Amino acid sequence: MYKIEVRGGILTSARARVCVIGSNKGIGFAIVRGLCKSFNGDVYLTARNEGLGKKAVEDLKKEGLNPLFHQLDISDSTSIQNLKAFLQKQYGGLDVLVNNAAIYQDETPAPFAEKVEVTLKVNFWDTLAVCEALHPLLRPHSRVVNVSSLLSAMAFGRCSDAIKAKISNPNITMDQLKELMREFEAAAKSDTVEEKGWPKWAYHVSKIGVRVMSYIQGKAFAHDSSRPDIIVNSCCPGYVDTDMSNHKGTKTIDEGAVTPLYLALLPPNVESPKGEFVSEKVVEHWK
Ligand SMILES: NC(=O)c1ccc[n+]([C@@H]2O[C@H](COP(=O)([O-])OP(=O)(O)OC[C@H]3O[C@@H](n4cnc5c(N)ncnc54)[C@H](OP(=O)(O)O)[C@@H]3O)[C@@H](O)[C@H]2O)c1
Repeated sequence: MYKIEVRGGILTSARARVCVIGSNKGIGFAIVRGLCKSFNGDVYLTARNEGLGKKAVEDLKKEGLNPLFHQLDISDSTSIQNLKAFLQKQYGGLDVLVNNAAIYQDETPAPFAEKVEVTLKVNFWDTLAVCEALHPLLRPHSRVVNVSSLLSAMAFGRCSDAIKAKISNPNITMDQLKELMREFEAAAKSDTVEEKGWPKWAYHVSKIGVRVMSYIQGKAFAHDSSRPDIIVNSCCPGYVDTDMSNHKGTKTIDEGAVTPLYLALLPPNVESPKGEFVSEKVVEHWK
């Protein structure tokens, strides 16, 4: 299964590999479990807390699986660069990236502007930073899954027509998306979110950001002839019994992992889904 080759003077293993983000618990943990069973290559469970990450790896080893561990705090640029350097040195690339880490703060007593700032920082800006760092490592036929939520659709439904038009514009650029997210943050700071046509939900809007980000990235890769068949999709795992849902979710973590795993393991050269938002393995559009 291992093939050793020399790239740029560095001895690397050409074995396929994967990196899962924010996966010491919840849906990410189940995604690692599923990838360990189905992915032909090395599976990295990452976590910001090394102790929690290594404990999660040990738990999976007790199930007879063999994930590896690497530290990753998506809010720490040094941590992202360390992971990037590690993947580059050990593997010379990356084949599957699952951006799963996120936070939900809407039900905390903090002021709304603060919730928007911290939630968009982790869920949108930090996820984007991971993509910007690791996408250059993606090899042809790579799969990227950004975990969003159907709550993005609920938030879209509450946006003004002008904002809806910007979000669903098929030609939206990453700069325009960043500007849109900054406008939402500014509206939260000036307490004018609803006046400016946004819903008063931090998490839901952050997941609009993740969904549109994935669309833009997917489209860019579709036009990248130097690295064919790299596919980026976003998805909703469903309502899952995790810490984030206060264990009110109706799905088990393994049921929640089904759609992310389907997207992470899309076979080579599929026609669809590409740059889509997928729920229950079905492509959903803004409506
Ligand atoms: N649960 C649901 O019903 C549901 C529904 C729709 C979408 N989702 C999405 O599914 C994904 C997984 O959610 P979940 O329910 O499994 O949540 P969870 O149980 O709260 O797990 C979230 C994971 O993200 C990690 N994380 C947070 N901030 C991080 C950072 N800065 N760097 C690295 N890791 C970080 C957490 O690490 P720590 O353990 O260190 O905190 C944890 O491992 C999220 O994107 C969520 O938005 C969930």
